[in-house]
Order: sequence, then structure tokens, then C-alpha cells
Amino acid sequence: MSTTADELREEVRRRYAESALRAGGESEGCGCGSGACCADGESDAAKFGEALYDAEQRGELPDAAVLASLGCGNPTAVADMREGETVLDLGSGGGIDVILSSKRVGPTGVAYGLDMTDEMLALAQRNAAEAGAKNVHFLKGEIENIPLPAASVDVIISNCVINLSVDKPAVMIEMARVLKPGGRIGISDVVAEDQLTTEQRATRGSYVGCIAGALSKGEYEALLDAAGFEQVSVEFTHQVADGMHGAIVKAVKTSEPEKKGLPVIQQAARAGCC
Ligand SMILES: C[S@@+](CC[C@H](N)C(=O)[O-])C[C@H]1O[C@@H](n2cnc3c(N)ncnc32)[C@H](O)[C@@H]1O
Repeated sequence: MSTTADELREEVRRRYAESALRAGGESEGCGCGSGACCADGESDAAKFGEALYDAEQRGELPDAAVLASLGCGNPTAVADMREGETVLDLGSGGGIDVILSSKRVGPTGVAYGLDMTDEMLALAQRNAAEAGAKNVHFLKGEIENIPLPAASVDVIISNCVINLSVDKPAVMIEMARVLKPGGRIGISDVVAEDQLTTEQRATRGSYVGCIAGALSKGEYEALLDAAGFEQVSVEFTHQVADGMHGAIVKAVKTSEPEKKGLPVIQQAARAGCC
């Protein structure tokens, strides 16, 4: 990986370490509630953060978990989860979607949260303990190299994280690897309209603020298709910047993830990210 990509990943890690410390009251500054940190300091409560969860879901959670929310949607509302299933949240942050998923899959199921930032993992562990969630596990690692075996997960969720990845094709391939045949993804992410160039996306917000690294709708669909997903859909839900939207991304893993070639993935990645 190039130095630039490593530096960008480190910048993302630093940004979210600071967010976790603020959300946990361990450092001074603005809180991350209402998405203030994810949204580049533009405190727009309706676009990012806890406002995207309904009152009933917020009521099931400790206040600290709700306030730590930095997402751009609510993947637990769109992902189909059943009792006894295994769910994986990519970039689990303060743990809000892991805790909600653990309730959906029940005591016979498992909810994993994966995050690369130690401070976020510590915050999530505290929030899960406060929520009394027993069937949760938080893993340290990168979403481009998921530390779980092949075909071990029924449902993958993620909330405003894939736009932050410096290697999006690797994320799609890893999702296909760890999902069981027939496994589903239900992801919230920032997605650009197809006519916006990468340069135009970068003028609308920063990389660490979840804007500049966003894929376009067509790029998202092409990467998922190339990784072997079917029934791919990318639906815009709310505008977060000019030509850029919070979106729901859904797809199903086929039984043959390797059936399509890498060239398509590489082509889309060059167009879509760093
Ligand atoms: C915008 S926050 C979203 C957190 C959470 N999903 C939520 O909705 O509140 C992004 C999170 O993803 C993590 N993250 C970003 N890039 C990552 C990567 N490549 N691998 C693992 N975690 C990553 C960050 O540490 C941070 O916790």
C-alpha cells in the first residue's frame, strides 16, 4: 500500500480515537452526539448520528451509546436479521448497531463489532456492558482484512465506514469471503451521484468527515457485482451534501463469489477512491 493510503488510514484512526475519547467524556471539546464529529463540524443533527434511530430504539440503549453514534443511517432498520444468526458490524464505533443487533438475533445468536481504533473498542465494550448485552464480541482489526473465518457470518451491517476505507475493493472481497452462501449485507453509507468526479466529491467535505472518500452509486454496484454479490441495490435516503446522499446498500452473496474477474474491481476502485 502506498504511503499516502497508510497516512490517510492513520488520519482516520486519529480522528475517530478523538471522537471516542470525547464521547466517553475523557477529553474536552464538542461531544460527538448529533454527528458533529462525523459531519466535518457542520452540526446537522438530521443527517448524521443518533437522530437516524427511532425513539423506541434509542430507548433500548444506554445514553452514552446513543450519543456516540456517528453513522449516516440505521442499518439495523434495513438489514434482515433472524434469531440465532451471526451478525458482523464493520467499523462498529461506540457499538450502537452491535447492541441493537444482539437484541435482534437473541441469546442464541452473536453480534460481532470490528473496529481498528482502540479507543472506539473500549467505548463500545463499556456501552455493551451498560446495556447488559452478553452475546457481543468486539474485534480489533481492519475491514479490508476481516479477522473471521470464511463463511462464518449471516449478515453484515456497517454504518458510514466503507467511505473511509482506503481499499474499497478489498472490503467487498472480504465481505464476500466471510459471508455464508446466501448471506446478506445491509449497509448505510455516504454515496455520490454518478456524475460527480472524485475531485468534485472532495470539494464537498473531507475524507475523515465521511464525504471525500465516498463511492458513486455506479461504483458501489460495480464493486459488489464484481465481488460476487447479487440483488445489489443502492438507494439514496437523504442528501448530506450537494449531489451526495446517505444511502442504503443491500445485496446477497451468491455461492460462487469468485465467479467474476478482478479487472472490473480494479477499474471501479481507480475511479472511486484514493
Ligand atoms: C464514522 S464512524 C462510524 C461508527 C459507527 N458505525 C456508528 O454508526 O456510530 C467510523 C468508524 O469506523 C472505524 N473505521 C474506519 N475505517 C476503518 C477500517 N478501515 N477498518 C476498521 N475500522 C475502521 C473508525 O475507527 C470509527 O470507529
